[in-house]
Amino acid sequence: MSNSKVSILLTGATGYIGGSILQALLRHRDAKRFEISTLVRDPSKAKILEEKFGVKTVVGSFADEDKLSALAENAHIIIHTADSADNVEALTAILRGMKARHEKTGDIPHLIHTSGAGVFIQEAREDGSSVQKYSDGDAAQINALPPTAFHRNVELLVIDADETGKYARTHIVTPTFVYGLGHGPLFDAGVANPLTMAVGFFVRAALKRGTVGIKNGGRGIWQNVHIDDLVNLYIGMLDAILSDPEKVSHGREGYFIAENGSSTIGEVAQSIAEGLFALGRVSTSGLVPYAPGEAAQYFGGESFSNLLLSDARCEGVRARREFGWAPKHTTQELLEGLKSEVKEYVKSAE
Ligand SMILES: NC(=O)c1ccc[n+]([C@@H]2O[C@H](COP(=O)([O-])OP(=O)(O)OC[C@H]3O[C@@H](n4cnc5c(N)ncnc54)[C@H](OP(=O)(O)O)[C@@H]3O)[C@@H](O)[C@H]2O)c1
Repeated sequence: MSNSKVSILLTGATGYIGGSILQALLRHRDAKRFEISTLVRDPSKAKILEEKFGVKTVVGSFADEDKLSALAENAHIIIHTADSADNVEALTAILRGMKARHEKTGDIPHLIHTSGAGVFIQEAREDGSSVQKYSDGDAAQINALPPTAFHRNVELLVIDADETGKYARTHIVTPTFVYGLGHGPLFDAGVANPLTMAVGFFVRAALKRGTVGIKNGGRGIWQNVHIDDLVNLYIGMLDAILSDPEKVSHGREGYFIAENGSSTIGEVAQSIAEGLFALGRVSTSGLVPYAPGEAAQYFGGESFSNLLLSDARCEGVRARREFGWAPKHTTQELLEGLKSEVKEYVKSAE
């Protein structure tokens, strides 16, 4: 690897995934080569990032599209995690900056975009039968995802920048259910969010209802990935891009599902119920099925409750094959860990 500088824009540095990636970049063996910049909404967090961690920050939000485009224009690598799976405006501003960079300098910048396994969601069958399992080793199958699938509108813009625009190489990382508390100096400093989204949704619903609910017998299946393994996927991809950009698939082929096992939603809910019951926050350690239409009130609407309680089956082979990603954490750790971790979610909900 050469000693030349590498300009990196990271969005979502104060988030669960982005904060965890930032820590790995700061302790990377080539950290001295990295010129990392971030867009941060909270000025007090920006100050800590600058002064304590030496990260260049621009204070602003996605409403400041020009700031985001300018940051993107200055970066060879962009790692996008801030509301990345759904925010079209933010992505459009980033792509505008990348295009300008290519036109002015001839550089072909890389976008490592974060999507989500919600794109694979299908209503769980009553008997658990014949729900399709997606594989990132099968590009034709991924390509056949309907444009109306959750997150897919944003994924298609990412792919189009590479295939039609040809001004960027784009790579989509699709995390499944990410678990484990965010940990390390950025979390200790209160800069980054240590909690993962889905558990937060379940815990808040249970606290309101007084019990943990399930739909379809909790038979829906979710793949999962530990936050540390997910970070290693991003870093493995970054290293591979920097050593030889030809090594890493991009555009339509550049689809990387991050998973290392699966459980039923019922198993996840059961661990949460046991944890909350031990804290005296729900009335039973068992699961209490939602009545028809009931879940909507706890998950901000019918469609979101369907998403959270349905199947999202997929397998990730590409990162393992292309750059030797080797996740270590197991579903057993997820189910055990949740029982004690729920107390952090209760604290945050209060
Ligand atoms: N966690 C999971 O299990 C999971 C699974 C699959 C996919 N994903 C996807 O991964 C991405 C990151 O998720 P996460 O769990 O890291 O979320 P998170 O902890 O909520 O972090 C979100 C980050 O985005 C920033 N952000 C959000 N809206 C913004 C805006 N309008 N302007 C500027 N910054 C904004 C937040 O800044 P503030 O600190 O200022 O709020 C924060 O830094 C999302 O697209 C999510 O859908 C997550």
